[in-house]
Amino acid sequence: MTTMPDRNRRTQAAPDTRPPADERPTEDTDLFDYDAELRPHNDHLRAAARIGPRERVLDIGCGTGGTTREAARAAVAGSALGVDVCARMLDRARRLGHDQGLTNITYAQADAQTHRFPPTHFDTCISRFGTMFFADPVAAFTNIGRALRPAARLVLLVWQDRDRNEWATAIRRTLPDPTTAATPPTGGPDAFSLADPTVTERILTAAGFTDVTFTDVHEPVYYGPDSATAFEAVRRLKEFDDRLAGLDPATAEQARTRLRATLAAHETDTGVYFDSHAWLVTAHRP
Ligand SMILES: C[S@@+](CC[C@H](N)C(=O)[O-])C[C@H]1O[C@@H](n2cnc3c(N)ncnc32)[C@H](O)[C@@H]1O
Repeated sequence: MTTMPDRNRRTQAAPDTRPPADERPTEDTDLFDYDAELRPHNDHLRAAARIGPRERVLDIGCGTGGTTREAARAAVAGSALGVDVCARMLDRARRLGHDQGLTNITYAQADAQTHRFPPTHFDTCISRFGTMFFADPVAAFTNIGRALRPAARLVLLVWQDRDRNEWATAIRRTLPDPTTAATPPTGGPDAFSLADPTVTERILTAAGFTDVTFTDVHEPVYYGPDSATAFEAVRRLKEFDDRLAGLDPATAEQARTRLRATLAAHETDTGVYFDSHAWLVTAHRP
């Protein structure tokens, strides 16, 4: 676990979770950089996944593919398949994989809920915050389970409750009437839909998984080297963008001003950080 930097203390020692140079954007992109945001979380995912050199790995909701590249490096004589619905993220994932000389990765633009994966094919399925958005999670995890060989492992990171995630509550507070923002019920397609271990265990068990475990992951999320960069990053987050789009110009500008102040209050010597709590979820296919 990493201790959060105190707010407003630029001189205090802060964690340095910035991504290595070959994972930093080398081009202008308007995609949110989850690889930079979630780097400390990879240590937990990697340690739990323990990907072996010959494994076939499935990465659900892989985005721009940071975790797929890590899996492919570990599965040096195996392979990694990254699946995402977003073509632009996959374009970037393909480019970074190519630039880093990885030849054992493929990507599919597909909905993991219904995509026809090769049956009983994969040894391990990983996902870093890519499995919370399923309209029918039992059907989705049942579909994913069919792609896994017997005794294969499922290793997921999912967010705990919104109230335990400072990044979500702080950003939401910058929006007008945050309490009236629609909050889908648990189990619906929402970043916090797998936050309740009881609900998630029920979903995974109904989908045919066994040995479901939950481990608290308490790490900071990184939004950029300074508050100006973090401001541009947050504007790429769908929730913030969607909410601003519906506002009159003056109200939207007030929200942006509040966001700038919030980000400035979270700026440290090594960047802008917020606290977060996730669950590392593991399960097996029987
Ligand atoms: C929070 S992002 C995480 C991306 C990536 N796992 C990472 O950590 O960098 C969630 C990702 O899940 C993808 N996603 C959401 N629903 C999906 C679905 N039904 N099938 C495949 N991908 C999905 C989104 O397009 C998005 O890229």
